Amino acid sequence: MKRTLGVCYYPEHWPEEDWAENAQRMVDAGLSWVRIGEFAWQRMEPRPDKLELDWLDRAIDVLGDAGLKVILGTPTATPPRWMFDKYPDMYFAAEDGVPRKFGSRRNYCFSHLGYRKECARITQILAQRYGKNPYIAAWQTDNEYGCHDTTISYSTHARDGFRDWLAQKYQSADALNRAWGNVFWSMDYDTFDQIDLPNHTVTEPNPAHVMAFRRYSSDQVVAFNKVQTDILRKFTDAPLIHNYMGRIVEFDHYAVGDDLDIASWDSYPIGFLSDRLEGTPEHKARYLRQGDPDMQAFHHDLYRSVGKGRWWIMEQQPGPVNWAPYNPAPLPGMARLWAWEAFAHGAETVCYFRWKQPAFAQEQMHTALLRPDGADAPALVEALEVSREIKSIPDVGTAKAKVALIFDYASAWAWDVQPQGADFDYFRLCMCYYRALRRAGQSIDILPPDTADLSQYKLVVAPGLMTIPDALMSAMSTFNGTALVGPRSNVKTEELSIAVPLGPNLPDLDVKVVNTESIPPNSSIAIASGGTVRHWFEHLEGQAEAQWSTTDGRPVIMHNGGMSYVAGWLDDETLYALMAETCTTLGLEVADLPDGLRIRDTETHRFYINYAPEALSHEGLSIPAAGVVWRAL
Ligand code: GAL
Repeated sequence: MKRTLGVCYYPEHWPEEDWAENAQRMVDAGLSWVRIGEFAWQRMEPRPDKLELDWLDRAIDVLGDAGLKVILGTPTATPPRWMFDKYPDMYFAAEDGVPRKFGSRRNYCFSHLGYRKECARITQILAQRYGKNPYIAAWQTDNEYGCHDTTISYSTHARDGFRDWLAQKYQSADALNRAWGNVFWSMDYDTFDQIDLPNHTVTEPNPAHVMAFRRYSSDQVVAFNKVQTDILRKFTDAPLIHNYMGRIVEFDHYAVGDDLDIASWDSYPIGFLSDRLEGTPEHKARYLRQGDPDMQAFHHDLYRSVGKGRWWIMEQQPGPVNWAPYNPAPLPGMARLWAWEAFAHGAETVCYFRWKQPAFAQEQMHTALLRPDGADAPALVEALEVSREIKSIPDVGTAKAKVALIFDYASAWAWDVQPQGADFDYFRLCMCYYRALRRAGQSIDILPPDTADLSQYKLVVAPGLMTIPDALMSAMSTFNGTALVGPRSNVKTEELSIAVPLGPNLPDLDVKVVNTESIPPNSSIAIASGGTVRHWFEHLEGQAEAQWSTTDGRPVIMHNGGMSYVAGWLDDETLYALMAETCTTLGLEVADLPDGLRIRDTETHRFYINYAPEALSHEGLSIPAAGVVWRAL
């Protein structure tokens, strides 16, 4: 399969007489795909039941006639103003309970069933009209579920839906009281109608209550998406896609992915570095114009898993964005590097966001492939370079990794509901493991928690996994490689109570977590053989062998054969040392890559991706600053 490039385009923003010229320029730039429509509901249906789709017919024709394949978005992320007159109670409400207003986007509540019906209606209209249109080669549902923190809505519709969900799950208030431990602080309920959303309590609500609401909220995203996919399936054979985001964990992406054909995500490396990633000021200064060297790759590997092997970049940062606290321009070469990095991780398609920078509205300061005056912007030149390179390299395939990291959305909710240490964050913990493994030169698969077959892997890591599902537990019990589980893994029930017998309850490993402590960032616990434990430390008991201990004799890692439990959050150097040592013992090829350099193997090629602002060399190759090179394996 040849890798392809595309772009996001808003025909409704531009005079119709420009469309054909725009389309031809896209083709000339080597782009094959164009995504349209996802914010155009008002133009499609300016008044209730008054459809105006002729312009969209013509836009699709112009783009398709030019040779582009069209991805049509359902426009449900931006309901038109009249929708709120029809359903004044459909607004999203944040934790303060105050409904948000019109005048931006994503202002709907996932629990509002009236709005869901409207979404079904517009999806059906579009599916019927364009389902068999030969130019529509893929569909996108909505846009970025969860963007602007909109998954968890505290509206009255969410409250009513939550009560129904609880009634179905627990069947009786008694069963719910027992499951949640509501005897504590006299919190027992007599009926489901008495249960409110877990906001506005004096001090913390019951963690089981919050966890249930997090599960409910995630289920609403899945259900909302499925309304659309069920309809689209009836009218089209084209693949169905959603564009997920970076470090958004409030809903279970694997569950949404089950109803789609391809996972895609929106990659804004420089924006993410400044607005959603931990890092020292030195790290952030070094990667200011490139983005973090592991953040994109982590999501590439995650979404490859969400898409069951099929994934895209639906939006790729082209230059400065408008939404981060500061918005520097990328180093020359980064728009090319980001695309090749995605292809090396198996992306089928990379679409840049967006075609032309608008002179108006919220995103007027967000760059694009064209400047507001229509001249080429720097990213267009790099996109053209990538499109030429694609032609010259054979299909590189996607290699099967030997190392896997388990990533679980429910664990992210659990530790957010009950951090116990102010800086404990599940995504951050997983990123630390991922980064250490990548520094050691590994290509990694990210797997869902219900993975039932680990036979392809030599090393599996499972940090912070609140409960280990049966399928994974039985895969672990027959696993021939090394499993590094913990810290904070399999120590809770699904209701977020402490598991008794005490966890982690791993096959053939006599280890129990008998006490837990969290420590502030300026403190650490020394390990006898060198290095430190930070943030989180569990006290272990059991007959298994202690592999590492603290200077005062408490086990840090206990193991039996290939099964290990890691009791603490190791500092970055120590975690790297553990990963490098474990991979070496397993016979994997290990490197200590220079800061900024990453490698990724495909079936046929090794890619060397240099995020550093200086040239680096490795394995006899020189990799330019902000550059990527590859060689056949
Ligand atoms: C994405 C979104 C796009 C656009 C872009 C700007 O999150 O899907 O519509 O807003 O960000 O960077």
